[in-house]
Amino acid sequence: MNNLNISVFASGGGSNFKAILKAKRNGIIKSNIPLLITNNSHCGAVEIAKKNSVNVVHISRKVYPDLDEKEYSQVFLNVLEKFKIDLIVLAGYMKLLPEYVVERYENRIINIHPALLPSFCGKGMYGINVHRAVLEAGVKVTGITIHYVNKEYDKGKIIFQKCVEIKENDNEISLQKRVLKYEHKYYPLVIASLEKIISYEKSNN
Ligand code: GRF
Repeated sequence: MNNLNISVFASGGGSNFKAILKAKRNGIIKSNIPLLITNNSHCGAVEIAKKNSVNVVHISRKVYPDLDEKEYSQVFLNVLEKFKIDLIVLAGYMKLLPEYVVERYENRIINIHPALLPSFCGKGMYGINVHRAVLEAGVKVTGITIHYVNKEYDKGKIIFQKCVEIKENDNEISLQKRVLKYEHKYYPLVIASLEKIISYEKSNN
């Protein structure tokens, strides 16, 4: 039996979050998804959470300018503990996670990147910028990468990659659209595999 709890972290439109919730409805993902954490209370992901009765917690540095790293981490950890979160799924979350959250949830935080790591990553490489850089580089193939999160941007161990074709007449928008389709298909499937492993490990501890 799976009684795991997943928290999604998002800052943007939330199309991956939506795909994850759909996979939950379809029984592909078995865990509960009780919590969305966001740094942007006006983003699309918040609307999606509200429509799907997912609790939203807004945590932003702007609200806690005086906390040190440990205290700021604790703000996240308190919420994550309250909801008994086992797995953190970053889905377009634009902030670096505080270091004690990363430490506490080692191998329990995953992210999706819209290109084949270790290429096209690092600071500024998010959203449409990634697809623009891919086209400018003239590479013949792009893809998606799902990886564990550690203290550095886009540097955690890779869990899954899938290539996505680049077409002759692609622009950054058409490419982003094609890549997103792959994200929506594979992110839920990877989450479903991981939850089985976490569930097994929890019950054998
Ligand atoms: C996706 O392309 C994802 O790979 C990246 O941020 C984007 C989020 O899109 N990390 P959305 O908010 O899920 O639509």
